[in-house]
This record gives sequence, structure tokens and C-alpha cells, in this order.
Amino acid sequence: MPGILLGDVLPNFEAETTIGKIKFHEFLGNSWGILFSHPRDFTPVCTTELARAAKLHEEFKKRDVKMIALSIDSVEDHRKWSEDIMSFNQDKACCAMPFPIIADDKRELSVLLGMLDPDERDKDGMPLTARCVFVVGPDKRLKLSILYPATTGRNFDEILRVIDSLQLTATKKVATPVDWKLNVSCKGREKWKRGLTGITQRWTVQTQQERDRKSRRGKREREEKKMGQRRR
Ligand code: BEZ
Repeated sequence: MPGILLGDVLPNFEAETTIGKIKFHEFLGNSWGILFSHPRDFTPVCTTELARAAKLHEEFKKRDVKMIALSIDSVEDHRKWSEDIMSFNQDKACCAMPFPIIADDKRELSVLLGMLDPDERDKDGMPLTARCVFVVGPDKRLKLSILYPATTGRNFDEILRVIDSLQLTATKKVATPVDWKLNVSCKGREKWKRGLTGITQRWTVQTQQERDRKSRRGKREREEKKMGQRRR
């Protein structure tokens, strides 16, 4: 079955894009990546989404996330559309589109990655691409996928929020609670420790140093208690 599941390595596909031919893994290098698909060039919802993504590109850069979009039109169309998008952002004069768009005019990648929306079709009856979001880790494995139908635009603030969670939970043994945001107090800034069976334990993110110090203190206290018991 075409499509890609959490933990799968994304294929190292070759694609024509607005910055020339790329190989996906080489494009990503050692960074995180986000691949997001769009039903069609020059359509209103897609244009507002890409304009928002372009405005937020510094935020993605700060998180070391390489951005790449996909739509089922040609490179030539994508280039004209990119100008349209930047003028929607009123950035046309100063800025080029800050990330490439893949031209999947044969829908090969869309089929391979399970991106098509069977309910939205073009004038020839061919399915359009859905609004798919794939976040890829530096190991090229899928860390998150969100699939919206063509008729529902995405929320890019939410996408940045989930990237913060993915990056935090990639290095810390924590799970982020409902509506969690980085550096914003949410339920006392506590995270939920994962890996406990049956019990949910509140756990504040600690540095390894703090954890080592606490464990040394605990050991010392246990030893002192034992010595006290022996003396009695
Ligand atoms: C849009 O981008 O406006 C759009 C594209 C496909 C279906 C519906 C809306």
C-alpha cells in the first residue's frame, strides 16, 4: 500500500523543483525537514498557506528544519506562483520564495507517499493532492504526519508547536501535555513522564546534572539511614 508510516525512512526521491533537481536526502543534509503538499498552484487556500509558511521560514530555520513544498503543477507554474505568493506577503520587491516547491506533475510522489485526496478532483477527474505534512528527523525517519483534506487549510503555528515537541521529546524522556507550548507556562510547566505503567507521574524537565545530583543525594541518605539503624 503506498504511503509512509511513523518511523519509516523517507525515500531518497529525485524531484524537479523551483531550485532545480534535488535528491531528498541530500537536500535535507543533517537537518530536520518538513515536506508539505498542496492541491494546486494559484488556488486561494494554498496561496495563503504558502504565504504564511514563507513568513515563518525564519522560525523553521531557528529550529534547523529545512522546508520544501509540493504541488502537482510544473516548475514553470510554481515559479510564477511563488511570485504571486510573495506579493501576497507584500515581499515581492525584496524577497524570493525562501524554500523550494516540488513539481509533481505526474503525481508519482503523491502516489508513493499517499498524498492524494480522493474527494477533490481536477477537471479531468484526477484526484488532487491533499494537505499533507511530513516532519522528518535528521535520521530521515518520519517523526510526524498530518493529513488534511484539500478543503481545509493548515495552521502553521500548530506545525511549529509540534516541531518544538518533537525536538524536545527526541532528546528528553518526556511527553508534552495538551496545548503545550515551548517556554510558555502550561500547567506549571510540567511535562508528563512517559514509560510508567498505570501511573501518570508529574515530572519537571531536569538537566542530567540535576538528576545525577538528586540520585547521589538519595544514595547518601539511604546509606546514612542504614548506618543509623545498625548503630541502634
Ligand atoms: C484552494 O487552495 O483554495 C483549494 C484547493 C483545492 C480544493 C479546494 C480549495
